Amino acid sequence: MRITVLTGAGISAESGIRTFRATDGLWEEHRIEDVATPEGFHRDPALVHRFYNLRRADAARAQPNAAHRALARLARHHQLTLITQNVDDLHERGGSPEVIHMHGSLLDALCAGCGHRWPASLVMRAPDPCPGCGKPLTRPDIVWFGEIPYHMERIWAAVEAAEIFAAIGTSGQVWPAAGLAQHARRAGARTVELNLAASAVAGDFAEHRTGPATEVVPAWVDALCG
Ligand code: APR
Repeated sequence: MRITVLTGAGISAESGIRTFRATDGLWEEHRIEDVATPEGFHRDPALVHRFYNLRRADAARAQPNAAHRALARLARHHQLTLITQNVDDLHERGGSPEVIHMHGSLLDALCAGCGHRWPASLVMRAPDPCPGCGKPLTRPDIVWFGEIPYHMERIWAAVEAAEIFAAIGTSGQVWPAAGLAQHARRAGARTVELNLAASAVAGDFAEHRTGPATEVVPAWVDALCG
């Protein structure tokens, strides 16, 4: 069966990685305009690098959980397209063979000048020169607010081809990710939301499985894989 899954920060929460909009979320401590926009990076690149260096260290310490591993199992039984808004590598370390990172990855660095991309060092500093052009324009390879998410053609195709579309651990507050379920439903997919609580787009889903990802995702995968 053709299954397309979209994950958000909630699938990594039980691995100890903070989500964004919970009461103790990242956006409670940092202004999005300071650390997650091109303007913020241009204004104070050192602050932005400090923010992502901390997130990179958190992600490196975190371990994949039962939900990440369940999706790796799902890929062994069905034609799975796994799309994530997350920038950690827990899906890959949990065994998923192919992951579409629509908001980029903490593991990659990008040159704000020439567009060159290379594996990120654990600690990135503003004046780090780009290995491609040599200019001190190294930035995290993260899609910031106001920028265009990556791989959208592949994503729309996977959403339209899906027999089942599932969203796991995302609040449905950031577009275009938040619009994928409605698009899948219009294309004829069965839609299911797996989350601790109803998201902002819960009405786009025909089925809801409520609970922590490490419980509801393995149970959902068991039901699909027997
Ligand atoms: N199990 C399942 N779901 C959970 C769990 C859990 N243990 N813990 C939290 N959640 C759910 C919350 O109910 C919420 O719906 O995860 C979601 C987290 O929402 P956000 O913090 O908004 O994260 P996300 O939806 O991934 O944000 C999307 O916004 O800030 C940008 O680029 C950033 O990719 C991010 C995007």
